[in-house]
Amino acid sequence: MNKTTQNRMLAAARRAAKRAYAPCSNFKVGAAVLDERDRIHSGCNVENSSPCLTVCAERNAISRAVNTGAKSVKAVLVFTDTDGLTPPCGACLQVIAEFGRNPEILLTNRKTMRRFRLKDLLPLRFS
Ligand code: THU
Repeated sequence: MNKTTQNRMLAAARRAAKRAYAPCSNFKVGAAVLDERDRIHSGCNVENSSPCLTVCAERNAISRAVNTGAKSVKAVLVFTDTDGLTPPCGACLQVIAEFGRNPEILLTNRKTMRRFRLKDLLPLRFS
């Protein structure tokens, strides 16, 4: 992925994180999905008083991508305004796997970025 796309994804994820609804954890996450047409779709986590109903930023971004006509995912960027990096949870990895064979997963915070491939984080997906 080129630097411009990466910067656009980062900006979209940062904006999304600001919109996160996280009254339970106060942990705001933003995600950006790059689709097969190089369009970027963002999502934030949306929590609920009934904890099982919380939806992660990554899955909200994927839902938005699909609802906008995306067919597959080339990359997912996750942003948290924290010292540590936030890898997608197992459920999100499985959902990402549904839409790409081995997309890039970029983990970012206020100071660093680390690049992975889906298979680094989820070597054996269920299919
Ligand atoms: N969360 C995400 O949105 N994405 C992740 O990759 C990990 C966790 C959210 C879910 C919940 O709202 C909050 O972070 C704390 O777990």
